[in-house]
Amino acid sequence: MPLYEGLGSGGEKTAVVIDLGQAFTKCGFAGETGPRCIIPSEIKKPDVSKPVKVVQYNINTEELYSYLKEFIHMLYFRHLLVNPRDRRVVIIESVLCPSHFRDTLTRVLFKHFEVPSVLFAPSHLMSLLTLGINSAMVLDCGYAESLVLPIYEGIPILSCWGSLPLGGKAIHKELEYQLLEQCTVDTGLAKGQSLPSVMGSVPEEIVEDIKVRTCFVSDLQRGLKIQAAKFNIDGSAERPSPPPDVDYPLDGEKILHVVGPIRDSVVEILFEQDNEETSVATLILDSLVQCPIDTRKQLAENLVVIGGTAMLPGFLHRLMAEIRHLVEKPKYKEALATKTFRIHTPPAKSNCVAWLGGAIFGALQDILGSRSVSKEYYSQTGRIPDWCCLNNPPLEMMFDIGKAPPPLMKRAFSTEK
Ligand SMILES: Nc1ncnc2c1ncn2[C@@H]1O[C@H](COP(=O)(O)OP(=O)(O)OP(=O)(O)O)[C@@H](O)[C@H]1O
Ligand SMILES: [Mg+2]
Repeated sequence: MPLYEGLGSGGEKTAVVIDLGQAFTKCGFAGETGPRCIIPSEIKKPDVSKPVKVVQYNINTEELYSYLKEFIHMLYFRHLLVNPRDRRVVIIESVLCPSHFRDTLTRVLFKHFEVPSVLFAPSHLMSLLTLGINSAMVLDCGYAESLVLPIYEGIPILSCWGSLPLGGKAIHKELEYQLLEQCTVDTGLAKGQSLPSVMGSVPEEIVEDIKVRTCFVSDLQRGLKIQAAKFNIDGSAERPSPPPDVDYPLDGEKILHVVGPIRDSVVEILFEQDNEETSVATLILDSLVQCPIDTRKQLAENLVVIGGTAMLPGFLHRLMAEIRHLVEKPKYKEALATKTFRIHTPPAKSNCVAWLGGAIFGALQDILGSRSVSKEYYSQTGRIPDWCCLNNPPLEMMFDIGKAPPPLMKRAFSTEK
């Protein structure tokens, strides 16, 4: 650790900020402009060939405890290289995070790593800190789902959230299916072999790499034509001309031919209106319809889109076009009291916006101190209050500065070993 660290600020050491996503974990220090590392949220087990995902909601608590312990150990001792006991922790959590997961994570942090304090901050709310606004309709298009939550005057309108299983995972599934069905592989021995004859399934990191490097979102007119051609059984609807094929090297010997139509059609699942007429765009509008009428105008003019899937080329443009197209439909025309939609551009890549908000919040040391749950409070009560219950923290949660100095300050100034 650099010697000068902490000298300038004179206070406690900067907090560690962790955004534990289902696909990627963003991790770094409060007050910095970006995470120190973005790593897959998985650990390697010697007896299992595939890496094990650590953010799993339906496994037993002890198993989860051991996964999280190993993963957080890796974060501290391989990536951040700091002592967990020295720094407060800010965890960016999804509003859908089940309480058994956050309880287990808290137990790992307090009991195993002995961190001085933990704060669970909702990702949608934190994202607003990066823009300096306090009302917005926030859509998180991450890995497992797309989750929308309106926030008005700094308060999440929890009753109006909405989510759909549309995110990176859904695109990967569709892409793998289409690759296996349509693509061929050239090997050193023979050309044009079908992909399933070379490999039974495509590893997820390859599917993801193909997606990030070759796939894109079309504009609305083109997208509608692609969808019409896909669902057209008699074949009369004509598909727009596809982008060029791409040769993707699988390893030194095998070349996968990714056919052009896959590149623009797989991401259409985000915008296709299924039987229930839901898509990423309707998610926003349906949530808006549920919001109190006097908040809608402000929310519609302050859309914030976060999450890695929103980084697909053309995504935001298409989302706006879809929304403008849908608001003319009778379903929304009558119900919505507004027609103007505007989208913000946060000062970070969309997969790091929530992390950056947490890093800004974590840098406000006085506020962080009073809103965090300290180790002492946790060991006495064994519970971790929700964000919404932190407004009036119980007295024992706050450090009594007059009598006992907070352990962190003591540690930062002290020369004792
Ligand atoms: N440049 C990019 N272009 C397209 N997709 C991307 C890009 N970068 C990341 N992604 C995709 O974004 C997804 C991960 O996004 P993000 O990091 O927001 O998810 P997460 O926080 O791990 O998941 P969740 O929020 O659902 O728990 C992955 O599916 C990844 O493939
Ligand atoms: Mg996320």
